[in-house]
Amino acid sequence: MPFGVGEGKTAQISAQYIENVLDDCESGIASPCGMIVETVQGEGGSIPADIEWLKEIRRMTAERGIPLIIDEVQTGIGRTGEMFSFEHAGIIPDVIISSKAIGGSLPMSVVIYKEELDQWNPGAHIGTFRGNQLGMATGLATLRYIKENQVMDNVKARSEQFFAGLNTLQEKYEEIGDVRGRGLMIGVEVVHPQGNKDRLGHYPPAESWLPLFRKDALRMA
Ligand SMILES: Cc1ncc(COP(=O)(O)O)c(C=O)c1O
Repeated sequence: MPFGVGEGKTAQISAQYIENVLDDCESGIASPCGMIVETVQGEGGSIPADIEWLKEIRRMTAERGIPLIIDEVQTGIGRTGEMFSFEHAGIIPDVIISSKAIGGSLPMSVVIYKEELDQWNPGAHIGTFRGNQLGMATGLATLRYIKENQVMDNVKARSEQFFAGLNTLQEKYEEIGDVRGRGLMIGVEVVHPQGNKDRLGHYPPAESWLPLFRKDALRMA
């Protein structure tokens, strides 16, 4: 929460700031050819975007004709409890990028976009390893399995179970900082409660413990 004003207010200020940057001809940023967003940041710290913020981003990009690209590489194909994570916000992007789970663990990535954005001429988008047919077959089988077996319901149920367990641990152990995420895309902060808090009131990360967690997790697996 970079502004130090709490969750809802941060999302509001952030959206206003972005809209101002887009409209202010002195902002130093030219009108972008697209805006790309992760609805839950993965490598960025398992940070779920505020739902109202996502709606605001969709509104301001639509009003200005800026294509909104949602990066569903980590979040897509059910990870957050909906097939695509933007569905939580009830928005429709102009472009979706998907990879990882969509290939059913074989190499496949997909770019899905509105027809009016289709600027490729026939044969313009080719390459040696494009269109991995085994990946397409496993991807199709995965999508079919998800649909036929109500996997989304299970993601939601397991998510509630996981968050309940983690929240209980959080109450018990000061070493557990923030627990956050959406669906089964979950991040847990491991902190040093004896360390000095930063300017926003957060304890420092306990990096030295991570090898211990990894070792225990491997042993339990
Ligand atoms: C959020 C996100 N976007 C994009 C990528 C890149 O995906 P790919 O390796 O399929 O190009 C990754 C890879 O980890 C990712 O995590």
